Amino acid sequence: MMYHSASPSDAGKPALAHRRAARHGAAMKHNASPSARNSTALLRWLQLLAASIVAMVVVGGITRLTESGLSITHWSPISGIVPPLGTAQWQAEFAHYRQIDQYAAVHSGMTLAQFKGIFLWEYTHRLLGRLVGLLALVPLVWFALRGAIARGLGWRLAALPLLIGIQGVLGWLMVASGLKPGMVEVAPPWLAAHLLTALFTLGWTVWQAAEIAALRRNPDTPPARLTATGAITGALLAVQLGYGALMAGLRAGRVTDQWPLMNGAFFPGASEHGESLGHALFTDPGIVHFIHRWFAWVVVTALVVMARRLRRKGLRGASIAVHAAFGTQILLGIATVMSGVALPLAVLHQFVGALLVVATAWGAQGLGRAR
Ligand code: HEM
Repeated sequence: MMYHSASPSDAGKPALAHRRAARHGAAMKHNASPSARNSTALLRWLQLLAASIVAMVVVGGITRLTESGLSITHWSPISGIVPPLGTAQWQAEFAHYRQIDQYAAVHSGMTLAQFKGIFLWEYTHRLLGRLVGLLALVPLVWFALRGAIARGLGWRLAALPLLIGIQGVLGWLMVASGLKPGMVEVAPPWLAAHLLTALFTLGWTVWQAAEIAALRRNPDTPPARLTATGAITGALLAVQLGYGALMAGLRAGRVTDQWPLMNGAFFPGASEHGESLGHALFTDPGIVHFIHRWFAWVVVTALVVMARRLRRKGLRGASIAVHAAFGTQILLGIATVMSGVALPLAVLHQFVGALLVVATAWGAQGLGRAR
């Protein structure tokens, strides 16, 4: 299968433009054809979108770590763009927040000024979410109207605003789970769903960007396929990311500040709540922490295999990116534990986790590309 230009009148143009580019080298830069300019614009758009998703992940991490995520107790996709104006509106927001159980359990006695502080993180996260949604949708419509999207790429790019929409809905369901009576945090499975969808969307964006970059180099490049190495590595990484989200949701990082032992022992011990093993695997903070810290090495093994194959294929940049990201991520994970989950380290761990997704998606696309 090959990519084809969307508009019949454009058919063949990318191929011609790029063949010409290969012949004339730098001259192409100064005298780029419309289709070459289109693919550059598409690539820049996807790169910007990926960077915005990474920024969202970081702001989301800070929002959680500062216990700010439940400070806005309603979902108003349009009117919520305007923050509270004036003291009366701020007091009303604060009054809503004081009614939920988290207030008494976590932020009891906070002042209005302190409330504004936590509100700001959640507000920024939601505002950025709207902007990322627009960034996924508006340029896509513009490119589509110009016939700039090669056939075969259309549905892949159309999935982006959809995924971001789903992300917003999951975000609200996550918040709603924490507003229920008796809840003082969001439910960890919702947090995991919200984070995993964000990281999947990031990986998807990077894959499409890599496809377009490959098409710019050679317009005859067929779409990359998902190789077994890419699929296995991606699946293992997804499990690790999911356990990372459970770590965050269950505050499991605070179970111990030791590494490699956990409170003096290799294994934290069976759950004391009498749950079944199946339940404890996802809900017991000690066991979740144990799995996350050791399963990391399984993921690293898969990433090393992927990186070696990338190098063998001559894709040195992606290989270095994978190595650098997992090495940093492991060190940050250990430092996060040993610091008792210090906010800057935990945020960096989340940030590099997102970069690892970028590197892995880039690598997986590279492996699946015809030479
Ligand atoms: C491939 C390796 C790893 C990946 C991809 C990864 C990914 C993640 C992710 C995505 C989170 C959720 C962050 C959040 O929502 O704030 C997380 C949390 C966490 N991870 Fe990892 N991690 C890795 C290795 C490790 C290792 C080796 C350790 C420690 C030995 C570790 C310790 C932690 C801790 C303590 C948290 C909770 C931090 C918090 O509460 O904010 N991680 N990890």
